[in-house]
Amino acid sequence: MRLGLFLAFWIGHGYLLMLILNVTYSQPYHRKFLKLLRLSFGLLLLAGPPLFGWAFGWDLAELLQQGSAGTSLLPACYAGLCLLLGLIAFPLVTIWRLIRPTSRAVLSETSRLIDVQKELGHRPVGHGKHRHLAEASWNQFFHVEFTTLNLAIPNLPAPWEGLQILHLSDAHFYGTPGQEYFEFLINECLKHGTPDLVILSGDILDDDRYLEWIEPIFGKLKWNVAAFAVLGNHDWWNDDQAVRKQLQAIGIKDIGNRWETIEVRSLPLVVAGHEGPWFRPAPDLSEAPEGFRLLVSHSPDNIGWARHNQMNLMLSGHNHGGQIRLPVVGSLFVPSAYSRRYDMGTFQEGSTVLHVNRGLGGKEPIRFRCPPQISWLVLRGQDRAGS
Ligand SMILES: [Fe+2]
Repeated sequence: MRLGLFLAFWIGHGYLLMLILNVTYSQPYHRKFLKLLRLSFGLLLLAGPPLFGWAFGWDLAELLQQGSAGTSLLPACYAGLCLLLGLIAFPLVTIWRLIRPTSRAVLSETSRLIDVQKELGHRPVGHGKHRHLAEASWNQFFHVEFTTLNLAIPNLPAPWEGLQILHLSDAHFYGTPGQEYFEFLINECLKHGTPDLVILSGDILDDDRYLEWIEPIFGKLKWNVAAFAVLGNHDWWNDDQAVRKQLQAIGIKDIGNRWETIEVRSLPLVVAGHEGPWFRPAPDLSEAPEGFRLLVSHSPDNIGWARHNQMNLMLSGHNHGGQIRLPVVGSLFVPSAYSRRYDMGTFQEGSTVLHVNRGLGGKEPIRFRCPPQISWLVLRGQDRAGS
């Protein structure tokens, strides 16, 4: 009983740290501060409960009794909060996440796992600082999921039935994985066909030395109508202007914090980009025409803004699915103000459909039960979904 209660306290303590860390990481702070915070929280996670037990006693039931009697009030309150989180909130949230239905926007989903190591005959770990992580045998970084999604989109104009979007995100060029990993994946996209639109939803780069990868990798992409990109927090920490220039040079439009109207199958489509909270201000759509609106936003946290601005479809990345997903529990570290809610997948909020891609890379090249992802989206009208 005593041990079980202490274990629940430890879980609650970890859950609280995770919530604080996730919300803090969603904000535009300096990366050194965030790194320091992550390290301190790691230490607090491991050392906090034993230190607490040593200082205030290991019998939490007794500590709670003392708290209700007016002594040891502060530690008793903290123990109570952690027990509530560990015994009630965490199990309930886990159950809710396990049983929540797939979004009604997803008409069908097919997945193909690409074993890049097998296809290339070796593991393309590259020459990055963290290549030793990519070499670990348990690391599933080189199993990439090619996801084809038929999505029911409210108010999709009839001529756009079957419109195809290739959605890529979070390449994080940092030396690892190597250039050949990305070139191989872009080739896989080309083999699938030519989409109408190509969308890159940010975090292109993690080190300015890899700016020169943009042209040989993304320069091979093909599309029928247009390609758009926004930047993310990792681009913000690097030379974002140089990234924008490189993208423009290969025909990918920088839609960061602005909007424009393009013609798709003779109809206007408003495309907007939101790079907040890192690049500001958010696009001003007061002059934008009515009609179908597509939002590219690095962070899915802008979902409230998207709904407010009548976006029909929103494409995001940033959260990487958590990169490490435990059995039953799922993701833990997700840099979002909503914590794990939009870690990956498809959601419908009001009449806005949101797709969150897990990304191709990551500064820390670690993946467990959370493969990198290429999303191929096929749009279907909601009222024509059955046809
Ligand atoms: Fe990212």
